[in-house]
Amino acid sequence: MSDAPLDGLKAKVATAELGPEAEEIGTVTHIADGLADISGLPDAQFGEILIFDTGARGFVQMLDTESVKAAFLDPMTGVEAGSVVRRSGQLLSVPVGKGLLGRVVDPLGRPLDGLGPIVAEAMMETERPAPEIIERDFVAEPVETGILVVDALFAVGRGQRELIIGERQTGKTSIAIDAIVNQKRSDIISVYVAIGQRSTAVRRVIEAVREKGAFERTIFVVAPATAEPGLRWLAPFAATTMAEWVRDSGGHALIVYDDLTKHAAVHRELALLSRQPPGREAYPGDIFYLHSRLLERSAKLSKEKGSGSLTALPIAEIEAGNLSAYIPTNLISIADGQIVTSAALFAGNQRPAVDIGLSVSRVGGKAQWGALKAVSGRVRLDYAQYLEMKMFSRFGGFGDAAMKARLARGERIGALLTQPRFEPLSTPAQVALLAALDAGGLDTIEPGQIAAVKQALEPLIAAEPRLAAFRESPAKLDDELRAVLVACVKSAVGRITGGAT
Ligand SMILES: Nc1ncnc2c1ncn2[C@@H]1O[C@H](COP(=O)(O)OP(=O)(O)OP(=O)(O)O)[C@@H](O)[C@H]1O
Ligand SMILES: [Mg+2]
Repeated sequence: MSDAPLDGLKAKVATAELGPEAEEIGTVTHIADGLADISGLPDAQFGEILIFDTGARGFVQMLDTESVKAAFLDPMTGVEAGSVVRRSGQLLSVPVGKGLLGRVVDPLGRPLDGLGPIVAEAMMETERPAPEIIERDFVAEPVETGILVVDALFAVGRGQRELIIGERQTGKTSIAIDAIVNQKRSDIISVYVAIGQRSTAVRRVIEAVREKGAFERTIFVVAPATAEPGLRWLAPFAATTMAEWVRDSGGHALIVYDDLTKHAAVHRELALLSRQPPGREAYPGDIFYLHSRLLERSAKLSKEKGSGSLTALPIAEIEAGNLSAYIPTNLISIADGQIVTSAALFAGNQRPAVDIGLSVSRVGGKAQWGALKAVSGRVRLDYAQYLEMKMFSRFGGFGDAAMKARLARGERIGALLTQPRFEPLSTPAQVALLAALDAGGLDTIEPGQIAAVKQALEPLIAAEPRLAAFRESPAKLDDELRAVLVACVKSAVGRITGGAT
């Protein structure tokens, strides 16, 4: 028998270092409001996870000359001045992969839904560089939201950042949720990240998505108002990393940040607590950089990089219609366009309450389906003119027929742009409605009946054999297709009005 195994062990024992392992240990010097000052960790890195003696975790949020500041990711109960803190040597990272689909997690990827551990394909850092310019491609394919006013007038392309901005309770979240729900038939994976929201509001969103059938294609990252500021701060970065995994594996992802105004507020909170110099509206000077760094990670990747995409719908809240406050102007200038919701329109029962005049999509036009583009060109202008005319016509005295016709047309556009929640319209149906509008096919029906026409239309289009190719790819619209689509709308109108047309 050979002694070889024993010899090996002997050699190991002989060379074993019995001295203590080098470990950097810091001490909490001050603690309050979810933030700890720690001395004795000169080598700690920005974003590194630290472990307190209670087991609670935090991350390095600011490096100072003498100390570091750490934001808590767990409740800080039990940690006090004098408590010991250890470095983990690990930067903030989250689980990524298919295992997150249909799950509700916190910004560290810990399950909040009681459905057991997340099966991760990998761990990825939450702070990742945005793709370089040469790694990108042009935004050229649409994200179909199913919301006519968005798809027709403010189309969103894959890789675009389109801000949804408006006052409180004007339907901002609803627009984003409709867009997520509409992906149940697409190849897009959605990520919804709730930052500083009331837990009940988040629960409503999750339930809505579950009920409407896109749950298995969606990841929910939740840091409610009651979560530690560190978690709320981390949430959008963590969620972006999860979405980037989809993008980088050649897939398509859509991320909704609900909302970045609250994220800006928590960034300000942490900055003020760690005594960074306050700038405009008391926000620290790096808030613009923080959010542009975040939103730059949304991109359409080049062929060499696998052609994946990440589209962002950041949400922002404004007060009293003031789009020129600090955070809104920052976000507007970072994003590729904005969908503005208005309290006045919402109060006037225009749903979604999108302000046509203030909204814009700067790159989406190139990504819009060709057929939709062909029929939506004049709608915005016609509607804007109608709104103005309507104001004047209230004074009376506008009796000529041409004017009446334009008012009637405008009313019908208004009815087309009105859409209840969770009633998405397919792109072929949107094209059909706008083509019919253009051909006068809706002039004979009362605006109040248009909602019913929309509902009757979808099955007619789905059953029309001549539209088989068009349903797959509504890229082009020739006269023949246009006629078929208009005929579908006419028969839908006929059903609603009892065959009178
Ligand atoms: N298209 C719509 N049709 C009918 N109701 C709608 C529509 N859009 C929104 N609502 C209703 O309006 C209310 C506010 O919507 P939502 O929560 O989306 O607004 P918000 O701007 O995100 O609000 P908050 O400022 O509280 O976040 C909800 O009760 C919602 O059901
Ligand atoms: Mg909301």
